[in-house]
Amino acid sequence: MDSLLLILFAYLLGSVLFGEHIARAKGVDIRSVGSGNVGATNVGRALGIKYAVLVFLLDTLKGLFPVVLARIYFGIDSWTIVFVGIASVLGHIFPIFHSFKGGKAVATSLGVLLGLSPLASIVCLIIWYAVFKLKGYVSLASLTASASAPLLLFILGYPFKVLLMSFVIVFLVFCRHRDNIARLLEGREHGFKGS
Ligand code: G3P
Repeated sequence: MDSLLLILFAYLLGSVLFGEHIARAKGVDIRSVGSGNVGATNVGRALGIKYAVLVFLLDTLKGLFPVVLARIYFGIDSWTIVFVGIASVLGHIFPIFHSFKGGKAVATSLGVLLGLSPLASIVCLIIWYAVFKLKGYVSLASLTASASAPLLLFILGYPFKVLLMSFVIVFLVFCRHRDNIARLLEGREHGFKGS
């Protein structure tokens, strides 16, 4: 398998915005609802929990699949896996099929993490759920869970390259949440149901 082709594939697959396609199929312009984001949370606001779960699963799978291929063909301690993981996330954030206007890449990043460490992913999901239950904001839960990923990978003894990838992904996820962070600090963040 060619490493550059796999990186390109990861980017192109990441560029498929399932949230936007599914919402459009249901007659909804997801960018004009709630936070305007194309992710599972906003699809949930527009179409309900069933569709939120569907988008979450598809966005997670599109992050998982290329990393699993990279792991099989190049190994976990390879630069290919680093670039494949980052390419999936960049695809979701800057999708070529959607004028480079993408989402916040939380589910896609989780998919990448799942391909690296199922254990770290489960712990991140538990952290996500705990923060969401305590505070009621998906964005805060997503930011806390994603910030935990590099620490968990470090504790679990993953190679430096994997830690580097996870830091880059966390940085990208935080950049994409800058409006959420501002709203959280000002106490006017959207709830899961509200807009
Ligand atoms: O996964 C995205 C989530 O963290 C925030 O979504 O729609 O509330 O901006 P949203």
